[in-house]
Amino acid sequence: MSVPLVKVETRGRVGLLTLDRPKALNALSNEIIDELAAALRAFDADDNIGAIVLTGSEKAFAAGADIGAMKDWTFQDVYSQDYLGHNWESLKRIRKPIIAAVAGYALGGGCELAMSCDFIIAAENARFGQPEIKLGVIPGYGGTQRLPRAVGKAKAMDLVLTARMMDAAEAERAGLVSRVVPLDRVLDEALEAAAVIASMSLSSVMMAKECINRAYEASLDEGMLFERRNFHALFATEDQKEGMSAFIEKRKPDFKHR
Ligand code: CAA
Repeated sequence: MSVPLVKVETRGRVGLLTLDRPKALNALSNEIIDELAAALRAFDADDNIGAIVLTGSEKAFAAGADIGAMKDWTFQDVYSQDYLGHNWESLKRIRKPIIAAVAGYALGGGCELAMSCDFIIAAENARFGQPEIKLGVIPGYGGTQRLPRAVGKAKAMDLVLTARMMDAAEAERAGLVSRVVPLDRVLDEALEAAAVIASMSLSSVMMAKECINRAYEASLDEGMLFERRNFHALFATEDQKEGMSAFIEKRKPDFKHR
């Protein structure tokens, strides 16, 4: 039996996934992505899980797609398997929130994987970059698409064209990461945030995620309508009654659909 490349654990209502290919700095082979996608789908389907944390090691969240595996591939090889398409793209169909807890290198596909999560909490030693240009290619999983949406055109061009790395402080200033914390806090910080999310009503959590993601795909008018209709829909839930009653009665809400 092959050794698992992704460690799967639960902490209360939080699913914790740890990329576990330390010798290759968590280089993202098809096998590790397939395992990750399967584990994410399992947590998404599990009623006992309300949010997910994805992390790597202290040295590397992930140093990119697996260069050793890709090196000799031809156009036909990558095109026919739709490399970076079906298996990597399946991550975006996960409906529960995923927090990336990033320490060390998040480069190439590693940076893109972190960006495909819902938000990133970074350790002070985190380094983000899209160095693909040094390999004679370009980013293939969102480095030219998600990165400019996150940090703006100027910084995305700078990072993608020069291949330089950005440290955690710069990534926070640029809006790529939501928080920077000391290395020994990064996983706990992400798990605590995930536990908070997992204590909320799952319908409102999933709708909030869907609405924010819609902001990237739709015009402002369409996005506003999508948000408003989802807001209206939540009035059909028991949890809306519970949440608002609890506020008025000055007590903690006890959500039924978590
Ligand atoms: N693929 C395969 N193996 C990798 C790897 C990768 N992306 N990144 C690191 N490794 C391996 C190294 O080959 C090395 O293996 P060996 O011990 O067997 O030689 C091991 O991990 C440790 O790496 P280093 O010795 O290089 O460690 P370092 O501390 O000196 O440097 C680093 C760390 C700066 C991250 C360096 O490893 C590096 O530059 N890695 C490649 C980063 C990169 O180019 N990423 C983009 C990949 S392409 C891509 O991701 C396309 C896409 O858009 C999806």
